[in-house]
Amino acid sequence: MLEINNVSKIFPGQRKGLFGHTEGFKALDDVSLRVRKGKSFGLVGESGSGKTTLTRCILRLETLTSGNILYEGADIGKLTSTEMRRLRARLQIVFQDPYASLDPRMTIHDIIAEPLVIHRDIVPMTARQRTERVLELLLQVGLREEHLFRYPHEFSGGQRQRIGIARALAAKPEFLILDEPTSALDVSVQADVLNLLHRLQEELGLTYFFISHDLGVIRYICDEVAVIYRGKLVESGPVEDIFERPANEYTRMLLDAMPDPDPDRSPFRQKVSA
Ligand SMILES: Nc1ncnc2c1ncn2[C@@H]1O[C@H](COP(=O)(O)OP(=O)(O)O)[C@@H](O)[C@H]1O
Ligand SMILES: [Mg+2]
Repeated sequence: MLEINNVSKIFPGQRKGLFGHTEGFKALDDVSLRVRKGKSFGLVGESGSGKTTLTRCILRLETLTSGNILYEGADIGKLTSTEMRRLRARLQIVFQDPYASLDPRMTIHDIIAEPLVIHRDIVPMTARQRTERVLELLLQVGLREEHLFRYPHEFSGGQRQRIGIARALAAKPEFLILDEPTSALDVSVQADVLNLLHRLQEELGLTYFFISHDLGVIRYICDEVAVIYRGKLVESGPVEDIFERPANEYTRMLLDAMPDPDPDRSPFRQKVSA
C-alpha cells in the first residue's frame, strides 16, 4: 500500500567541501521498503538516522533528491494539490511530542474536530455531528465526556497523546504514521498508550508505519521491521526473524542495548506470551 523506492534526500550544506563546492548532507541514502495493507511496519534506528525525514518525505513536506514514493500505486510526488489534500485525509500522523503538537489555545473538542473541518468536503458533517464524532473518539481513546471543553495544559502527557491519537483518527484514515508516539512519555504510561494503539489497529483495521528508536516497542506493535542507520537501511524482515537472527552488526547492537524486562512487569508481556 505504501512503497518507498530508492529514496535519497540530501540537505544542502553550508560547509565547503574539498574542492570548494558546498557539501550536502545525505539524510536518506537509497531507502526502499514496502508497507502492506492492514500490517504494522516498524522503522527503528537511533536518533538522527533519518526516520523523521522519511515521514516528511511521505507527507511531501520535503522534496526527494531521488527515488519515488507510491501510495496505492500513485506517485505521491506527482499528485496535484487537490489529490494530495485528499490523500492527507486517508493518511494521518501522530507526532512524538504531545506537548508541542496540540495548540494550547484550542479546546480538546476543537483540536479533535479540526481534521473534520479541514476535510469537510470528504467527510461532510453538521456541527452537531462533528461533536458527536468527537465524543465517540474521546471514549475510543480512553478519555471522558467531561474532558470535551478543557484545554491541553489540563492533561498529562499520556492523556495528551490520547488526544493526538483521537485527532489522527477523526476523519477515519486507513493509514497512520506514528513517529515515536510514546518516546516522550513516562515508561509507565508508554505501555498504556501502546496497548491502546495495538487495540485500535485491530479494531479499525488500520495500517501502521511505526517509528521508534526502541526495538522493544517495535516488537510489541509490529509485524515487520526495517533497521535504519545513518540514512541507510541495514536490514528488514519479519519482526521475529530480526529478533531471533539479526544479520547486521548494528541491529545486534540495538538488541544488546535493550533492557532485559522483568517478564511479570513488562508492558510487552502480552505479545510475548501470545
Ligand atoms: N531541514 C534540514 N536541514 C539539514 N539537515 C537536516 C534537516 N532535517 C534533518 N536534518 C538532519 O538529518 C538527519 C536525520 O534527522 P531526522 O530525520 O530528524 O532523524 P531521526 O528522526 O531519525 O532522529 C540529522 O542529522 C538531522 O540533523
Ligand atoms: Mg525523529
